[in-house]
Amino acid sequence: MEKLLDVLSREVGNAFTEAGYDAALGKVALSNRPDLCEFQCNGSLAGAKQYKKAPLTIANDVAEKLKESKAFEKIEVCPPGFLNLNLDGDFLKEYLSKMATEDKFGLEKPEKKLKVIVDYGGPNVAKPLHVGHLRSAVIGESVKRIIRYMGHEAIGDIHLGDWGLQMGLIIAELKLRKPELPYFDESFSGDYPTQAPFTISELEEIYPFASKKSKEDSEEGKKFKEEAMECTFKLQSGVRGYRALWKHILNVSVTDLKRNYDNLNVTFDLWKGESDVHDIIPGMVQYMKDGGYAYLSEGALVVDVKEETDTKEMPPCMILKSDGASLYNTTDLATIMDRMKNYHPDRIIYLTDKRQELYFEQVFRCARKTKLVDENTDLVHIGFGTVNGKDGHAFKTRDGGVQRLEYLIRDINNQMFEKISEGREMTEEEAKKTARLVALAAIKYGDLSNQASKDYIFDIDRFTSFEGDTGPYLLYTDVRIKSILKKYAEQKGKENVDELVDIKSGLNKPTNDSEKKLGMQLSAFNAMMESAYEELAPHKICAYLYDLANAFNVFYHETKILSEEDEDKKLGYLRLLKLVQLVMESCMDVLGFSAPDKM
Ligand code: ARG
Repeated sequence: MEKLLDVLSREVGNAFTEAGYDAALGKVALSNRPDLCEFQCNGSLAGAKQYKKAPLTIANDVAEKLKESKAFEKIEVCPPGFLNLNLDGDFLKEYLSKMATEDKFGLEKPEKKLKVIVDYGGPNVAKPLHVGHLRSAVIGESVKRIIRYMGHEAIGDIHLGDWGLQMGLIIAELKLRKPELPYFDESFSGDYPTQAPFTISELEEIYPFASKKSKEDSEEGKKFKEEAMECTFKLQSGVRGYRALWKHILNVSVTDLKRNYDNLNVTFDLWKGESDVHDIIPGMVQYMKDGGYAYLSEGALVVDVKEETDTKEMPPCMILKSDGASLYNTTDLATIMDRMKNYHPDRIIYLTDKRQELYFEQVFRCARKTKLVDENTDLVHIGFGTVNGKDGHAFKTRDGGVQRLEYLIRDINNQMFEKISEGREMTEEEAKKTARLVALAAIKYGDLSNQASKDYIFDIDRFTSFEGDTGPYLLYTDVRIKSILKKYAEQKGKENVDELVDIKSGLNKPTNDSEKKLGMQLSAFNAMMESAYEELAPHKICAYLYDLANAFNVFYHETKILSEEDEDKKLGYLRLLKLVQLVMESCMDVLGFSAPDKM
């Protein structure tokens, strides 16, 4: 369905043509003076030079022709030549009625369905998720959903950090603690136990312990680090016991990660990791050498990625270290190769902290230069800012430690549970379920409503407030609509409101200003979603939702809905409410959260 601004621009463009001017001048925009009008067109000013006429003359000519248009109820010419426009109520009614019957409220299907891989989450095995992992998961999930909502195919891949030194550290420490395990006995040829020799809590204790030890400046620290590197090497070269132990680490950790991501309503199609491309690295390296792309520089194998137009420093992309070991770069390049071969995506989108910006620039350039990607495969990095505490520094626990995501979410759930249990008639179970939904919306909206590249302050009190620009406020608005509709069904003695309030039978012409404003906000849905997709920007959906909720609440406070005596008018209101509810819920779903029935 054509976007409202396009429809209006065409109308006004036609008037320009009829008055003898260029139709392209008829571009209509939302008014930047909402106190004066709803829409405006400034084409007369732009056309003045071209036609050697006063803008006011042009505007008057066009306004005369526009009188015939059914789109506007008010056309005003304002010096020095603006066209101030108000939408016609019947025209809005038609537009909304069509929107209500169309799939996805009139969002146009893409001309070509694209295949997009979204690489997000990116946790490291055996390291607990902390608040820094929140953004990649939350923004990535929403970006994936936006792409799907637009009608494209999106494949979410978690890209686990499961192959580096951290694995060697854990294995080396286990070897010290439990040397009797069969995994360390090189003469062992039987089947290894199916049960892991540790729990997730032990694993999470072992990793920081081992990591700290390896960084110590003592003899013991140095020796331990060497041992860990040896273990990493043995693991990567396929020593049987080490591989078996690593599988246990992976399983235990992935089970725990799945539980954590489930709690965030974040799901991945692929649980691939750095280790999955290990075997294709030698072939890729050879290919880069044979192609003359990679050369030795101070012992390391590198590919130059500098371009003439560069104004910033652009170091070469390192493929192998001088000891022959592969790097983060190497696995990312091999992963691109693997994805091209197995999925042939039109686009790969990566979500990481923006501090990896230069890194991805290097990797992308290297992948292009070495032709690992097709010319028309798009590589995109979305770099996000830091989650800060109220003091403006990186978010920490009260004692200055790194905040574990799991505990953070648990605390917010509890806080919400208390708030919701207070003075509400709900069973404990119901209140818990509701609290989880509200807490999730609070956290996700708190994050997503900021432009991704900006840092933001994780302010739990603000995020969980039921008022203001927050997730809970949106849920509250949705719940309010649902309860009005339910009440109406009860009045009519029906179970289900859908048979009574059918948006497909059309909407009414707005009868007052707040109703019209609400309808106009609804009508912007397709344009908003398209631009959120084009810019991969969930915050645009947040802003739209907030405006929609506000427009609804103004309407709600100014209008007697259920006590309206004119049944047709009342049904018109209710259908408008239903449409608001459906649009809101679709937006929330794309953002990755949902509303309870009551709250
Ligand atoms: N595990 C990485 C980290 O902790 C993030 C992975 C992001 N994805 C990627 N393909 N590099 O920084």
